[in-house]
Amino acid sequence: MSWKTLDDMDMAGKTVLIRVDINVPVKDGVVTDTTRIDRIVPTVKDVLAAGGKPVLMAHFGRPKGQVVPELSLGQIVPALEAAFGQPVKFAAENFEAAAANLKDGEILLLENVRFFPEETKNDPEFAAKLAKLGDIYVNDAFSCAHRAHATTEAMARALPAAAGRLMAAELSALEAALGTPERPVVAVVGGAKVSTKLELLSNLIEKVDHLVIGGGMANTFLVAKGVEIGTSLAERDMADTARAILEKSETTGCTIHLPIDIVVAGEFATGAANETLPVDQCPADKMILDAGPATVEALKGVFAACKTLIWNGPLGAFEIEPFHKGTFDAALAAAALTAEGKLKTVAGGGDTVSALNKSGAAENFTYISTAGGAFLEWMEGKELPGVAALG
Ligand code: 3PG
Ligand code: MG
Repeated sequence: MSWKTLDDMDMAGKTVLIRVDINVPVKDGVVTDTTRIDRIVPTVKDVLAAGGKPVLMAHFGRPKGQVVPELSLGQIVPALEAAFGQPVKFAAENFEAAAANLKDGEILLLENVRFFPEETKNDPEFAAKLAKLGDIYVNDAFSCAHRAHATTEAMARALPAAAGRLMAAELSALEAALGTPERPVVAVVGGAKVSTKLELLSNLIEKVDHLVIGGGMANTFLVAKGVEIGTSLAERDMADTARAILEKSETTGCTIHLPIDIVVAGEFATGAANETLPVDQCPADKMILDAGPATVEALKGVFAACKTLIWNGPLGAFEIEPFHKGTFDAALAAAALTAEGKLKTVAGGGDTVSALNKSGAAENFTYISTAGGAFLEWMEGKELPGVAALG
């Protein structure tokens, strides 16, 4: 499939509406990982250099079509200004006036587009209204490309459209690394919910040789296998589905790896008293917060036997010490194999990228995608609506 890039557009004097993904992690009003912001800088700079006036459109969180003050994009402005090295104007409302008053060299950010219910409905009238704010549409939000929303899909049909630098870079990097991956391939999938990643897991076991399941998701699989998991986070109502995935993996030749030892604690808190136990010995009043060292050793063996690794989702509650250890150690092992030229490593997803950055593993990974869900759907071979609309 082909699409236009910034080089195909005459942007001089034009207002360029750029869909970006600045859905970044924020703690106490401070952006804790700026990867997604850093990666949109080339597009914004190139639009400015070509004489275009950038108007940034983005979402933050899932406000469900309502104004949720805590999810205002206003709080991201300082991080954007730091990344662009210049002031960024912000329109909380009255987008028309703000866009019309934008001067050469200025950058405008619009308020969270998901404050409008029409956004996630991919409403063409809403898209047309936004399209009137500018002359050209650029999609630089690869990480939202799996969403058919007004600013990711319908708008691309309402204006001359192009892929931004990050969108183009993500697609070519993923194609280069994973288009025809060297086998064996291992996928590490973690995070809390099986329910949102079910279809994905079911598709992945047809495509990869090893599937490592970590985090809260692993707990659901342990439940499916009849293992007691105490007070751990799990989706017990998904146990049947998890069982079906385990059964299917036997016919597709994919080996599923679950934790063999666990780090448990009485509470979800930084520095909580903890112990490491075999996976089937979680006390009834404790919760699993990380994969243990034996699990990490086993994973190192799997990684060493593979040629390509895909990673989305942490193995444990990496954001609270010391439960980062399983994720960090496994990531560092993958990074070391990459540095030795033995393994190609591609990772994506907000939490994952933040964990890889914190552990120091990121710099040795072959490629870090800004996308989580979109990256996985791309992996599954699905058509991404945000990319398709550019074609
Ligand atoms: C993400 O953070 O994965 C993207 O910004 C998409 O967000 P969404 O999952 O809320 O659509
Ligand atoms: Mg997401």
